[in-house]
Amino acid sequence: MQVLLSEADIQTRVRDLANEIARDHPDGVHLVAVLKGAFVFLSDLARAMPGHCSVDFMAVSSYGKGTSSSGQVQVLKDLSSDVEGRDIVIVEDIVDTGLTLTYLQQILRARSPRHLRTACLLSKPSRRKVDVPVEYIGFTIEDKFVVGYGLDYAEKYRNLPYIAVIGD
Ligand code: IMP
Repeated sequence: MQVLLSEADIQTRVRDLANEIARDHPDGVHLVAVLKGAFVFLSDLARAMPGHCSVDFMAVSSYGKGTSSSGQVQVLKDLSSDVEGRDIVIVEDIVDTGLTLTYLQQILRARSPRHLRTACLLSKPSRRKVDVPVEYIGFTIEDKFVVGYGLDYAEKYRNLPYIAVIGD
């Protein structure tokens, strides 16, 4: 495995994103993390956030155990509180084809939040199948399958503190 982003690179960028998000949400922000991949990003982002924030979680199925998108997204776990009238930031690990995020944004927008924005640690623009708005992007990467910092391959490697490329 080859390290693509070191622990230090990630921590610096996550702090910048937290400051940017806090600046854009002076009344506080409700972070909605997408399980399982975003759990590490969410925990670092929330702890680096200078302003008020609350957190909630959703789980969706997208890829099963493979490495390519089926385009089929299903809600496995829904939020535990209402988002109507609130400032929401979806916290995602990675936008690849964009299908999962598009679906999530549609679901949450239908619940009438005041603002709905999205933070993704990683983006692979060359893989995009749908154009999806992402206001906060940590790093733009090439079309490589990556693991670590919450991201898995068949449920492995989520605990790595850095991001690495597998299959090279
Ligand atoms: P999308 O619907 O194709 O944008 O896929 C988004 C989801 O696929 C992410 O939330 C990840 O769970 C997973 N995914 C996409 N690319 C990778 C990768 O390189 N490594 C690990 N998981 C990935």
